[in-house]
Amino acid sequence: MHKILVLHGPNLNLLGTREPQIYGSLTLSEIDQRLVRAGEEAELEVHTLQSNHEGALIDALHEALGWASGVVFNPGGYTHTSVALRDAIASINIPVIEVHLSNVYAREEFRHRSLISPVCKGVITGFGWHSYRLALQALREIL
Ligand code: DQA
Repeated sequence: MHKILVLHGPNLNLLGTREPQIYGSLTLSEIDQRLVRAGEEAELEVHTLQSNHEGALIDALHEALGWASGVVFNPGGYTHTSVALRDAIASINIPVIEVHLSNVYAREEFRHRSLISPVCKGVITGFGWHSYRLALQALREIL
């Protein structure tokens, strides 16, 4: 069974109460539970992790190289700023799919630029928690 890391970046620990009109009302732990279940149905073993810290996210990506077949990553606000996260993804030889709950292209202009996308296998944005589910499906297909 393939093991998948679902990695959540900064401020996503506040899902449920954080701008629910944009990000929905599910909490992070509800989303994680749904993803573990969706993984089981697709014969994927899903492991989830959230951090508000850039360095911890980089460490998790490096470590994923040792145990995961693929990564689903919502880099949150770091999407638009982090050269270091982009370099971490480029340094690991496993597929990473960038996901966003909201449609970043329908929002402020500063969210239209992703430093992460060019080094990812693909991007899914705008489908709420389903963005993650669709990314798991995509990994299932390509692995
Ligand atoms: C987000 C979009 C980012 O622009 C924002 O900074 C987030 C969440 C999303 O999932 O829609 O923190 O990644």
